[in-house]
Amino acid sequence: MDKLVIRGGNPLLGTVRISGAKNAALPCMAAALLTDEPVILENIPQVRDIETTRKLLAAMGAEVELGYGRAHHRTTICARTLAAPEASYELVKTMRASTLVLGALVARCGRARVSLPGGCAIGARPIDLHIKGLERLGAKITQEHGYVEAVTDRLRGAEIVFDKITVTGTEDLLMAATLADGETIMQNCAREPEVADLAALLNAMGAKIQGAGTSMIRVKGVTKLHGARHRIIPDRIEAGTFIVAGSLTGGDLNVAGCDPAHLTAILQKLAETGVKTVVKADSVRVMGDQPLQAADMNTEEYPGFPTDMQAQYMALTTQAEGTSIITENIFENRFMHAQELVRMGANIKIEGRRAIVRGGTPLSAAAVLASDLRASASLVLAALVADGETIIDRVYHLDRGYENIEEKLKAVGAEIRRVGNIFPKRAAAPAQS
Ligand code: UD1
Repeated sequence: MDKLVIRGGNPLLGTVRISGAKNAALPCMAAALLTDEPVILENIPQVRDIETTRKLLAAMGAEVELGYGRAHHRTTICARTLAAPEASYELVKTMRASTLVLGALVARCGRARVSLPGGCAIGARPIDLHIKGLERLGAKITQEHGYVEAVTDRLRGAEIVFDKITVTGTEDLLMAATLADGETIMQNCAREPEVADLAALLNAMGAKIQGAGTSMIRVKGVTKLHGARHRIIPDRIEAGTFIVAGSLTGGDLNVAGCDPAHLTAILQKLAETGVKTVVKADSVRVMGDQPLQAADMNTEEYPGFPTDMQAQYMALTTQAEGTSIITENIFENRFMHAQELVRMGANIKIEGRRAIVRGGTPLSAAAVLASDLRASASLVLAALVADGETIIDRVYHLDRGYENIEEKLKAVGAEIRRVGNIFPKRAAAPAQS
C-alpha cells in the first residue's frame, strides 16, 4: 500500500494549477446515462473515484472512453444501450457517490437496482432522501438484500421538499426529473456549485431546468435528452487545500485555474485568521508572511464553510495563536484526523460535534494514518510544516480525490515522495468515506 513521505519546513513557492472538480465530474458522468448519444466531458480530474465511476458505467453497458495523452482530461460516455441498470455493492462500497446513478437509471430505463451504501468512516450517510424523492416522482421502491430497487413506467413531475439539504440527493432527483412527465419543483435544494454545473450539462443535453444553485429548482420534464459537450468546473476543495498549504508553510503560492467565486466562505474565514490573499478572476495568490490567529469555524451547506475543508482548516488552526472552536454540522464522526494531528503535537480536544484546537504548538513528524479523503489532506498539510519526516499511510484515500498531489506539491518546493510498504501495519482502517 502506498505511503507519502513528507519532510516539513519548505515554503511553497510558485504556481499550482487546480484540476476539475471531482464532485462535479461524478454526477455529470452519471448524467450521461440519461441519453443514448455521446456526452463529452472536459476537465475531468484523473483521480480514483473517476475510475470507479468508469467501471460502474461500463458494468451497465455504457461505453466510457477516458482520454489519454493530450486528451487525458476528457471522457466520452455513450450509454446507447444499458443492459444492466445496476450498481453493485462491490463498487458502491468503495465510493458512496455511486448511488448517484439511481435517479438517472430509473428515469431512462424504468428500473434501477443500486446497492445501499452502508456505513462509512465519516458517519451513517443514509440515502433515505433520494428514495423518498423518487417515490414522490412515482417510482415504486423496494429494499431487499442490501439493494434498493426502483421501478416505474414513467416518472411524473411532483413537488419535493427536502427534509434536509443533501448534495447528491438534489443531483440524483434533478437527473430523474429531467425525463419525468410534467413539472417538478424541488425545494430546500443544495446550492453547491456542483449542482449548478450538473444542471448546466443537463440543459446542454436538452433538459429544461431553472434555478439550480438556489434552494428552489424547477424542472420541466422532456421525453428525450441528447448528447452534449461540457467542461467541468474547477475543484474548490483542492483550491482551498492549496491556499491553506501556501499560508501554513509561509510560502508565496499562486493557486491558478480556480473559481474564486466558489471560495468566498473559505477566503473569508482564512482572512479572519490572518491569511493574506490577492484574488483575481481565476486565481488566488496566497502569501504566508503573517502570523496566524485563532478563529472559530462552523461547517455549513454552501454558501457556508464546506465540511470538505474542515480537516484542512483544523491543520491550519494548530498553527494559529489562540483557541479555535470548530463545529462540524454536516457529518457526525468527521474528526478522525484530530487524533493523528495530536500524535504530531497538536493540542485538540473533541467534544461531540466540536473540536477545540489550542493553536501555536509546534508539530513534529510522525507515522500517521489517513482515514478518509479530506482527513488525508489535513495530514499532508500538517506534515508540510512538521519538524522531520512524516509518513502518511493509506494514501489511497487521498488518491480518490486529489490529482497528482505529490507532483503538484513537489513542483512548488515541497519535499515529498511516494513509497511502498516501509513500516509494519497499524490497526485496520475504518471503512471508506
Ligand atoms: C456530498 C459530497 C461530499 C460532501 C457532502 C457535504 C459528492 C460526491 N460528495 O456528499 O464530498 O462532504 O456533499 O457537502 O458530491 N443525508 C440524509 N439522508 C440522505 C442524504 C443525506 O440524512 O438521503 C444527510 C447525511 O447523512 C449528511 C447530510 O445529509 O448528514 C448531508 O449529506 P449530503 O449532502 O447528502 O452528502 P453527500 O451528497 O453524500
